[in-house]
Amino acid sequence: MNKRKVTVLFGGQSSEHEVSRISAQCVLENIDKERFDVQMIGITRNGEWLKYEGDIKLIGTGEWEHVARGMLLKTNNISNLGESLVSAPTCEDLVSFKDSNNQNIGVDVVFPVLHGPNGEDGSVQGLLQLANVPYVGCDILSSAAGMDKEFSKLVFNNAGIPQADYIKVMRSEIEGSIPFLINQVSEKLGWPCFVKPANAGSSVGVSKVRSPEELEQALKDASKYDTKILIEEFIKGKEIECAVLGNENPIASVVGEIVPSNEFYDYNAKYIDGKSDTIIPADIDSDIAEQVRDYAVRAFKALGCSGLSRVDFFATETGQVILNEINTMPGFTSISMYSKLWEASGISYSDLITRLIDLAFERYGQTSRSYERN
Ligand SMILES: Nc1ncnc2c1ncn2[C@@H]1O[C@H](COP(=O)(O)OP(=O)(O)O)[C@@H](O)[C@H]1O
Ligand SMILES: [Mg+2]
Repeated sequence: MNKRKVTVLFGGQSSEHEVSRISAQCVLENIDKERFDVQMIGITRNGEWLKYEGDIKLIGTGEWEHVARGMLLKTNNISNLGESLVSAPTCEDLVSFKDSNNQNIGVDVVFPVLHGPNGEDGSVQGLLQLANVPYVGCDILSSAAGMDKEFSKLVFNNAGIPQADYIKVMRSEIEGSIPFLINQVSEKLGWPCFVKPANAGSSVGVSKVRSPEELEQALKDASKYDTKILIEEFIKGKEIECAVLGNENPIASVVGEIVPSNEFYDYNAKYIDGKSDTIIPADIDSDIAEQVRDYAVRAFKALGCSGLSRVDFFATETGQVILNEINTMPGFTSISMYSKLWEASGISYSDLITRLIDLAFERYGQTSRSYERN
């Protein structure tokens, strides 16, 4: 069997750059080397695309970048360090993967292990679409709509999935409208409430607002990450997550539970203090777990996702299941919730990577516009 050449993209221009590097390192360590040849492209925080051929372990630490630059300097004698791997959209295929010697580097399929804006939001997916290469995960529209918490709310609402009530505020509206917003929150949502950027991730810019005095600061914090902000009704409940895998006929994993170390699952509780717990399967009644799995698949289909997504919920004491958000490229280390949920459902991490790559080819086969090649 001919080995497929998988290009793993990592890093990226988002606040989740580091998380992406750690996910990618894990993918690279566990991908089935019998089936796939791997090449690595790191995207720096400045948006440079650097081909990397060094030690996989240096990706997680961030040292890869120095090595990539050193290598490029040595082998290609490039003086312009900002030189990008992806050429400007002037050539035949609009976008092609060429190295600095103008040689096509050969890409069968791309695995964009990128989280957050400029990676999980349809932008890189659009680039890959133009390059006419298969890629792992959701397409442009589902990535973009899944990243934007307001758009996904509209779609899920239409699919009949319960969610927290919310008020949308644009960054430009914050100044001067605090008393009005306080009134609106009191009338429509109540206190406490949650404030979050519409497009972000890893809990950056998310705050629990306990009283009206805290609203302005929370809105300002969220507005550092996006021009659109959501104020949400506070949902008291267990945090439940479900992994979905597939294309048109996706399957849902067993359901897991997050027990955050902080008052809510903030950045610190997610990545820093290491004290948050996961319980798999979640400690909830089986009919609630079934409801979660059903909503997770419905959400995946409603958004038109492909490949993978993790769908996050709250399960309240009164037995309600409320969708919180979808992540079209969830944290993807071997100990991330997404992988652990599949492990518990009988699919190993390495098999999961293989399945995702196979799904990328399947979708490409169904959707590629082959007439462009004729
Ligand atoms: N409406 C809400 N009610 C209660 N907790 C919330 C609410 N929205 C967010 N949270 C808490 O904040 C965390 C991060 O919010 P989330 O919307 O998932 O953003 P992100 O995309 O950054 O993960 C959640 O995991 C949860 O702990
Ligand atoms: Mg979340």
